[in-house]
Amino acid sequence: APMLFIGEKVGNKQGPKVHIAVDPLEGTTLCAKDMPGSIAVMAMAGAGSLLYAPDVYMDKIAIGPGYPQGVIDLDASPADNIAALAKAKGVKPSEISTLIMDRPRHAKLIEEVRKTGCSIRLITDGDVAGVIFCTQPEKTGIDLYLGIGGAPEGVLAAAALRCVGGQMQGRLILDTEEKRKRAYGMGVTDPNKKYDMSEMASGDVIVCATGVTDGGLLSGVKFGKDVIETETIVYRSITGTVRRIYGEHREFSKFQLD
Ligand code: FBP
Repeated sequence: APMLFIGEKVGNKQGPKVHIAVDPLEGTTLCAKDMPGSIAVMAMAGAGSLLYAPDVYMDKIAIGPGYPQGVIDLDASPADNIAALAKAKGVKPSEISTLIMDRPRHAKLIEEVRKTGCSIRLITDGDVAGVIFCTQPEKTGIDLYLGIGGAPEGVLAAAALRCVGGQMQGRLILDTEEKRKRAYGMGVTDPNKKYDMSEMASGDVIVCATGVTDGGLLSGVKFGKDVIETETIVYRSITGTVRRIYGEHREFSKFQLD
């Protein structure tokens, strides 16, 4: 999103001060190739409530709601996490489904997960939706997200999980001096810190996502003759409400009164 920059101020300065995390096109390649799952996604929370994440990678682990706190841990082995999750779910490890981004950097992780007998869905892009899939395992078939994706995407996913429940941990991958300096400049004093979901997104959080291409979470934009249809999902942490908004967008000038 070259037209947006970190720290940009928006609004009319009349309302409450909020921080906004935005990924206007999450899954750029998916959109360019008209493949499933690209979304436009935004999170909003009180000032200082969203982790100020530099544009680096983040190691992440996430599950949906309904499990005892601490059942998964970013620092535990994949086998231990899968065994603990299976026990908490009351199933065998082979009945757990994991979602991982299909990347060479995940070769060892994928090998370790396969050894447990649990199934793996590999995605080419779009790990914000990938994490959100864990919140509805009966619908999506995904129990656990594992692996490394973008840090800003991690914050957006944590914000969504805050609203519907679930657990997530993330650690920034600051493997060069330049990245450590950049992160430090954004307030990251401990480069090895393991962030909990509520350290990435706290307080009253609202998240919304609109489908760009059709996907498991949302339908994509449909261009009709006179109308453009969209589907948006809105999550609100304070009530746990999830709203789906089906929009029909018409050319505004046709509907002006004079
Ligand atoms: P973009 O839309 O910015 O291309 O991000 C897509 C994405 O797949 C994210 O969902 C994910 O967090 C990140 O890229 C992973 O980065 P990489 O493609 O470098 O592995």
